[in-house]
Parts: sequence; C-alpha cells; structure tokens
Amino acid sequence: MANIIDGKAISAQIKEEARLEAVELAKKNITPCLAVVLVGDDPASQVYVRNKKKACELCGIRSLSYELGADTSEAELLELIDRLNADKECNGILVQLPLPKHIDENKVLLRILPEKDVDGFHPYNVGLLSIGKAELKACTPAGCIELIKRSGVDITGKSCVVVGRSNIVGKPVGMLLLAENGTVTTCHSRTKNIAEVCRNADILIAAVGRPKFITEDMVKEGAVVIDVGINRGAYNKLTGDVDFENVSKKASYITPVPGGVGPMTIAMLMKNCITACKAQNNIK
Ligand code: GUN
Repeated sequence: MANIIDGKAISAQIKEEARLEAVELAKKNITPCLAVVLVGDDPASQVYVRNKKKACELCGIRSLSYELGADTSEAELLELIDRLNADKECNGILVQLPLPKHIDENKVLLRILPEKDVDGFHPYNVGLLSIGKAELKACTPAGCIELIKRSGVDITGKSCVVVGRSNIVGKPVGMLLLAENGTVTTCHSRTKNIAEVCRNADILIAAVGRPKFITEDMVKEGAVVIDVGINRGAYNKLTGDVDFENVSKKASYITPVPGGVGPMTIAMLMKNCITACKAQNNIK
C-alpha cells in the first residue's frame, strides 16, 4: 500500500508560511492584496473564488472581489483589468477561468501585467518558466512539485511522465519537472502505447480530465503518482484521473482525490501573492 500524500496538510503548511511572510510585510506597513475577478455564474467557479477569498483572509492577504454578470462585455472586463493594473495597492490579479464564450480568454490573460499575474498564465511568465526563471509559476503545477518534494522524493534523474498537455497543467508541470532535473515525457490523446510509456514512469502525473484513466497496469511498482484530475460524477462525487483503489496498491506515494492536488492550487496562489507583493515593493 502506497503512502498517501496529504495535500490538505501540506497546503496548510504552505498557507502558514505565506501568513508568516504577510506578518513580516505588515511590520513594514505593507498589506499584500489580491483582486479576484469572476465573470458569470458558473457554480464551480463560484466555489473556487469563495475558497480563494477565504484563504486570503487566513493568510493576512487583503482581497478585492469583482463579481460581474455573464453579459459583461470583453471591453468592460479589459477596462477593469487596466484599472487594477494601475492600482498600486493591488499586487495580484486573478481572473477565474473559464470565461463566458463571448470573451477572448487569451486577450484577457495578456492584458494582466506580468508582475501581477499570480496565476502564472501570462505568456511572459510561461516563457520565464520555460527557461527556468519564473517567479510566478502556475499554481497547480507548482503545487504538484511541492507535493513531490515535501514527501521527500528527489526528482533529479527520475523518469517523469505527464499525461495531458493543457496550458494550465500538462505543459507547465513538464517544464517544472525538467527544471528539477527530471527526464520528462508528455503523453496526450495521440500518443501511441500510452500504457507502456506510463509504465516507465518513476513519477507519473495524471492531468487528462478522464475519470480513472490511469489503471494499475499502467503504473510501475513503486512509482510516485500525482493525480490532478477533478472529475464530477453521479451525485457530484469527485473522481480523479487515477484508479486510486488499485493503483495505490502498486505506487510508493499517491495523492488522493479529493485532498491531494486540489488544496495545493490555492496555497500556491497565496505564495504567489506574497511573491508578487514583495517584488513590487523591492523586498528580497
Ligand atoms: N480555472 C481552473 N483552474 C484555474 C486556476 O488555477 N486559475 C484560474 N484563474 N482559473 C482556473
């Protein structure tokens, strides 16, 4: 039976670290501040946004909340971003995704000043990530790396297989694993012999968005398995991308769903808010 990686405990530790940094900033009369922007009434997004604001409160980060109607125009949203970009008090801007279809997501993400891009989605920050120099790293991928490292697993030289190539998880997590000296392979829907590739992994990251896609025959004995999937099934039950019940018998470490990667996203967001605030105040 694998060691279960406790994402709740590790995320609590990271939020506590962020809180302590906010206490230090307060001594300099600085309050880190995050603007959270939600457009429309997607229920899942509403929950995420509420949790982000709650985490801010816990960490001593001020949050500004903007909840805009589903009929908000792209121009109106861009105007709000311009205002927040210009606001010296506001250190981070988070626009909850997905956006309503009539708004061009790329255009919106490009508009956020890179130094306020606490989601790490701006192409400038993605570029820094790809050359191993990012300060603001995408939260979920950075959370995966923390889970691995804080479990005492050294990534150096390990065969790392990422299943999924999305811009918000698959691609950036591959770059972060590479920066940690892993040997990285990315699989996706067109990959041939995906099971065989996965069986070679010392560290397997599942970010496919298909419930129980990773079955035990795809996992090497003793592998570290990180499940990024959050699939909602019948009765709204959460299921990961990994067949946890069977894969946990083979893995050395595994994250559960819920309680694994999920809570890490917000914890890393808090860390990014502190990082952005310090950078904007020229604090090392
Ligand atoms: N939607 C799903 N995940 C995320 C995230 O990490 N950040 C934002 N802004 N929206 C999301």
